[in-house]
Amino acid sequence: MSAALRITNLVKRFGGLVATDNLSFDVEDGQSVGLIGPNGAGKTTVFAQIMGEHRQTSGSIELYGREISSDSTPERIRRGVSRTYQVPRPFTDMNVLENIRVGLMPNNIWQMITAKPRYQQETEIALSVGFTETDLQKTPGELAMGDLRKLEMARTIATGTKVMLLDEVFAGLTVAEIAQITVLIQQMRQDGMTFLIVSHDLKALEPLVDKVIAINYGSKIAEGSFNEVLNDEAVRSSYLGAA
Ligand SMILES: Nc1ncnc2c1ncn2[C@@H]1O[C@H](COP(=O)(O)OP(=O)(O)OP(=O)(O)O)[C@@H](O)[C@H]1O
Ligand SMILES: [Mg+2]
Repeated sequence: MSAALRITNLVKRFGGLVATDNLSFDVEDGQSVGLIGPNGAGKTTVFAQIMGEHRQTSGSIELYGREISSDSTPERIRRGVSRTYQVPRPFTDMNVLENIRVGLMPNNIWQMITAKPRYQQETEIALSVGFTETDLQKTPGELAMGDLRKLEMARTIATGTKVMLLDEVFAGLTVAEIAQITVLIQQMRQDGMTFLIVSHDLKALEPLVDKVIAINYGSKIAEGSFNEVLNDEAVRSSYLGAA
């Protein structure tokens, strides 16, 4: 049985800087994995390579047993992987429903075979992540940060994604917003979504992950349960070193 996502010997160089250093890990289907490390450790660069926004220098990226690293970004999305951004990137002149519609456009096969009109799908997705009816016509400028993060997640859901990459999903949120996003991720886990979650907020990450991978200077320094990794000597010193 192949992993949902398998990273093998991944290397990314930006000139002389090694941002990803011979990194290997698996995310099993239905698993929720945390990716942690101090600022500049290379977490976002891993996401960018998985999505094809940056081409890796070497190494491989497999999705459900199939190498995807020469595929275009839309092709990777069609194959079932999608990401959110550390700083939300909605289309600012479109409302909530229109933003979600963009995710539905390129590739959603069930959209073609289902009798449901588009509008209904967008609305269902928006409500499923916790928007209210009155939110649907709002533009991103009218939304709080927690809602912007929900909108990012809704857009990935619209692509029909099976593996969701969440980059700093809790950053800038209130305690109440963190609780809402936590419930949302838990619900999606129960429905079978596979997650790779980057978070500096380790307290928020803890209840969500089956295992954690810690990286520093682009290379893996620990992998295991949340407690194993957080108690690891190399992990502790890398965080202290960055403080
Ligand atoms: N496009 C780029 N060109 C050159 N260097 C880059 C580029 N993108 C990232 N880097 C560098 O690669 C390293 C890893 O950056 P990355 O953004 O992946 O870290 P991160 O772990 O996501 O950090 P943070 O926790 O601050 O979000 C950093 O040294 C960064 O400056
Ligand atoms: Mg980052």
